[in-house]
Order: sequence, then structure tokens, then C-alpha cells
Amino acid sequence: MSVIEMVREEGIAILTINRANVLNALNTEVLLELKKVLSQIKEDTSIKVVIITGAGEKAFVAGADISEMVKQSVDEGYRYSRLGQEVLALIENLPQPVIAAVNGYALGGGCELAMACDMRIASEKAKFGLPEINLGIIPGFGGTKRLTELVGKAKAMELILTGEMIDAAQAERLGLVNQVVKADKLLETAKTLAQKIASKSQIAVRAAKLAVNKSLYTDIETANACEAGLFGVCFASEDRKEGMMAFLEKRPAKFKN
Ligand code: CAA
Repeated sequence: MSVIEMVREEGIAILTINRANVLNALNTEVLLELKKVLSQIKEDTSIKVVIITGAGEKAFVAGADISEMVKQSVDEGYRYSRLGQEVLALIENLPQPVIAAVNGYALGGGCELAMACDMRIASEKAKFGLPEINLGIIPGFGGTKRLTELVGKAKAMELILTGEMIDAAQAERLGLVNQVVKADKLLETAKTLAQKIASKSQIAVRAAKLAVNKSLYTDIETANACEAGLFGVCFASEDRKEGMMAFLEKRPAKFKN
């Protein structure tokens, strides 16, 4: 069985990280397989939204694989960090929106994976943390940047420097997750959100994701220029005509998708 399982449900791709016996820890095999699957999804316009979750009851992903890292040299550790960053950047820059359905522990590289997704729905059993400091290392898959962006410097520092876990309710209060739901409603909630997004104009959805992402790491003038360009692209679409006419004719829009 593959370490990444993909199930298609209409326009939604559900990816499951499948190493439940080690709490879905990310080893090189998982990272390379994720890279391959994401590169295929990127080119597949029939996939409108992606959901990422973990196999089993206990964990989303409990981090990078410590049994693999323990054997790494300095150079291998650096390259491992770069590979993880590359794969998570693929998620962030995927044209399709990505939802993390966090079903349990999201620690270290697992928390970083969830943070690279566009939205996070958490089970009330989920726990988040960056415990790398307890291993004598620091987050290496983009966590220092993404956690700081998401929760601000003071809370990011506290979580990274203490290595302590927080529960789903705390994560929601910090703005780290969009919504917390009962464990048995997790996938259903993530799918409902995915279907809602999949029903919109996909040109507008992709433009919105790109504009928000570009705004994050740039100044307001550049972000506005990018937004206006993408706004113009939406104006060229059939979906724009349909969306506006449907509003004026007081009927639901039928986007081409
Ligand atoms: N890597 C490798 N194996 C892991 C793992 C990881 N990150 N997390 C859990 N496992 C393995 C355990 O070794 C154990 O294997 P065995 O059954 O063969 O002993 C199995 O998964 C089940 O785990 P536990 O017995 O520890 O389960 P628990 O319920 O007692 O504890 C836990 C759960 C609190 C999540 C604990 O497993 C834990 O602390 N895991 C490590 C979390 C961590 O430190 N993550 C950060 C890794 S570093 C990183 O991610 C760097 C980076 O930024 C790129």
C-alpha cells in the first residue's frame, strides 16, 4: 500500500498520509511521494480542491521521521529540510486550494504541513505543536515563518521555544485553525467546505488564492498591482459574465468550472 493514498470524489482529491504505525511521520519516501502526487494534481484541472489528512485515529502527522533524522549528517539534515520546504511550498503554491483535515497530533513537520495548507479544520482530538526544541533542533519545514505569520511573533516564540503542545480549542483561539469539529464529523466538514469552493468559478478561486498568497510576502503596492492584474483576468472569463448576470436576474449562477 502506498504511503500516500489518493481518493477522488468528483472534483475533490483526498490525500491520506499512510504510515499509521509511526503516527504518519514524514520520512524521505513520504516527502518524495507527496511531491510526485502534488506535481500531478497541479496539472489536473479536473481537481478543484485538495484535502490532506492522516491515516488512523491518533495522528495527522507526528513530525519528521526521527528514526531517519537520527542517522543524518549535517549535510543530509540540511537537504532534508530543503526537501520538506520544497514539498510544502508546492502545497502553498498549488493552484487549487488545499484544506488540512487535522485528525490528531500535528507536531513538528506535521504542524508545518498543516500550516502550508490554505485552511485547517481540526478534530477536537487534534493537538498542535513544534516540539523540535526538545530534540535539540528547530523547525525545518518552514514553521518558523508560517507559524509567525499565522499567530504573531510572541505566541510563535512561546510555542517554538517551549516545544509545548496546544489543543484544538487553543489552536482555534490563536487563529491556527479555521474550525474545530467532533472527530466523526471531520472529513464531512472538510468535504462540505471543499464542495462549496468547488462550486465557484475556478478561475476566480485560483486568482483569489494567488492574490492572497502574493500579498503575504510583499509590500502593499506590489500586492495591489498583482490583485488588479488577477481581477482583470477574472473579467475576461465567461464565469464573470454569468456571475454578474445571475445576480441581476436574481437566479443562482451556473459556473462553467
Ligand atoms: N518519527 C518517528 N517515529 C515516530 C514519530 C516521529 N516523529 N512520532 C511517533 N513515532 C513512532 C513512535 O516511535 C512509536 O513507534 P514504536 O511503536 O515503534 O515504538 C509510534 O510512532 C507510536 O508513538 P508513541 O508510542 O510515542 O505514541 P504516544 O501516544 O506515546 O505519543 C506522541 C504520541 C506524543 C505524538 C509521541 O509519539 C511523540 O512525541 N512523537 C514525536 C513528536 C515530535 O517530536 N515531532 C517533531 C519531529 S522533528 C521535526 O518534525 C523536524 C522538522 O520540523 C522538519
